[in-house]
Amino acid sequence: MRVLGIETSCDETAAAVVDETGLVHADVVSSQVARHAPHGGIVPELAARMHLTAIVPVVERALEQAGGWARIDALAVTQGPGLVGALLVGLGAARAMALARDLPLVGVNHLEGHLLAPRLRWTESDPPGPAFPYVALLVSGGHSALYEVRDAHDVEILGQTRDDAAGEVFDKVARLLGLGYPGGPRIDALASRGRADAIRWPRPMADRGDSLDMSFSGLKTAVALHVRRNGVPDDEQGLADLCASFQRVMVDALVERAIDACLRRGASRLVLTGGVAANRGLRAAAAQASAAHGIELFVPPVRACTDNAAMIALAATHRLARGERADQSLAPYARDPVAHVRGKMPKLRRN
Ligand code: KG4
Ligand code: ZN
Repeated sequence: MRVLGIETSCDETAAAVVDETGLVHADVVSSQVARHAPHGGIVPELAARMHLTAIVPVVERALEQAGGWARIDALAVTQGPGLVGALLVGLGAARAMALARDLPLVGVNHLEGHLLAPRLRWTESDPPGPAFPYVALLVSGGHSALYEVRDAHDVEILGQTRDDAAGEVFDKVARLLGLGYPGGPRIDALASRGRADAIRWPRPMADRGDSLDMSFSGLKTAVALHVRRNGVPDDEQGLADLCASFQRVMVDALVERAIDACLRRGASRLVLTGGVAANRGLRAAAAQASAAHGIELFVPPVRACTDNAAMIALAATHRLARGERADQSLAPYARDPVAHVRGKMPKLRRN
């Protein structure tokens, strides 16, 4: 079964074709990041308008790569969480195509897509990715949480940020330093040339007890105070040192919780996913800590970590296999619906 997936929850217009083995037959992403950058963040109305312009050409390119409509068996679209105006564009397109082509349609939770992304395969010879169950650290611009993924439809949240998402913290610190938007990749690049022990930052939520939650507001404030007192370093090395030491403390907090989650759940597989999983410091630290604990680490290629439609199409293959079908009333949701996640739902706050 080949599914054409559509993703428009944030600032990427994406379409992809994936089969039930996770093999990617087409993968097209049109990023709006350059248009939002001058505003220092994503402007929701601009995102919606740009999706409207990009959606048809992006879908056409994906269809071209996959061999046309004759090769498509079903349609999938991100239903939420995300920017409602942006989601509406994808939903409108998917509903219209399902009607016109008489194809089954399913709505997919964006987070479910991120959690399944390591199971995508880019060539026939690629291994199938992590078997269920696994622990996943999902860190992006809008979300930071740890999950136990027991099956595609059986996911439990183990801990999450109480304030900002990890990517949001990278972006805000980068803005304080005048590095522009998005900040994660820029801090990552500078950090590789800096000394991680140059500045001692407070550890995020050091007194978490046995909670797997995260909180980054204290660290963010500490960086803001430091910059207010000392100014932004005017030399390249000073800037690199600040970035390296900030990144180290973020990465340590994330890796520590991820390993803790694996040990508590007896999980032998750990997945890093979401845009921040592109961070080289995070990848290296997670690889080292996983190896030390005999845990197998899976990190999807960067194109699968950041927002894409292939992960949406893959999640849809599982939903379709369970007999799920949406009708023409399929509507967006801005926040993650509680019903999606099984088990305990602590103080849910997502941006
Ligand atoms: O998953 P994503 O593309 O979009 C969301 O769903 O949010 O994640 C984007 C986030 C941004 O905050 C960006 O700064 C961050 O991921 N990011 C990084 C890196 N690359 C992207 N953060 C740290 N290091 C990176 N190399
Ligand atoms: Zn995302």
